[in-house]
Amino acid sequence: MRHLLSAGDLSLAEATSILDVAEEMHAIQDRPIKKLPTLRGRTVINMFFEDSTRTRTSFEMAGKWMSADTINISAKGSSTSKGESLRDTMLTLDAMGTDCFVIRHGSSGAVAQAASWVRAHVVNAGDGTHEHPTQALLDAFAIRRHLRAGGDDAFEGRTIAIVGDLLHSRVVRSNVLLQRTLGSRVVLVAPPTLLPTGVEQWGCEVTNDFDAVVDEADIVMMLRVQRERMHGGFFPTAREYTELYGLTPERLARLRPGAAICHPGPMNRGLEISSEAADATNSLILDQVTAGVSVRMSVLYHLLGGSPE
Ligand code: CP
Repeated sequence: MRHLLSAGDLSLAEATSILDVAEEMHAIQDRPIKKLPTLRGRTVINMFFEDSTRTRTSFEMAGKWMSADTINISAKGSSTSKGESLRDTMLTLDAMGTDCFVIRHGSSGAVAQAASWVRAHVVNAGDGTHEHPTQALLDAFAIRRHLRAGGDDAFEGRTIAIVGDLLHSRVVRSNVLLQRTLGSRVVLVAPPTLLPTGVEQWGCEVTNDFDAVVDEADIVMMLRVQRERMHGGFFPTAREYTELYGLTPERLARLRPGAAICHPGPMNRGLEISSEAADATNSLILDQVTAGVSVRMSVLYHLLGGSPE
């Protein structure tokens, strides 16, 4: 694997290998000393041109726990703020001997463009409204652990409902691509104004009626209403959005036995998800966060190699 730019680039074997190695990496979280020599001498630069809590921190932890030298760069504080182009920034850092770039950028396609300019490996940590492949992988990891605890970790025959602001979501695109590779049935739920153009060609079922699917899903994945990307009225009021598309206590009570709740974070509590649902015993939200470090260790391992220990 040279780069990880899209969840759609992963074969079933590659995706399964990343999840399986992540399972081995997961054990390190219980150790008092979280350090493996796997990536000693390798340099990973985390370039975040958009804000992040989970992705940036977990990539940094993943690199550090595997003994890589990790460096963080943001637009503010780099020469980008003086007008240097993304291409010149990438060529400059690549020329220093970087082994891997982890890039988040506000423009869809910018990470793939950056990958075409450099010798180093590149991971897409979220580009605009396009993709966030490591989020889909960590979601799959947390879901597979949940299914395994129930005695059968197969994705085939499972229904995953992805609900909310699909229009502005890079998480939904990566999840649809990965979950279809893994064999799940994906049902997309959103108001008509928040459905991406061409969604009917994604190979999923699409509905505007959350109540019609809430009690048949094995996993209900709620997505954040991305108000910072909204220029205009996509729904009349926040209250109406919650009534029709929120995971309210009433809908929480209707989930089928064994069903679990996901949210990539950050959450708008009280808008797309109630606190009762976010903090429920069948919520995987913090498991997703924990999975983020293990999955990103596995992704760096698959890209940069190293000796497994
Ligand atoms: N889920 C996610 O990408 O979160 P951050 O924006 O905090 O990285």
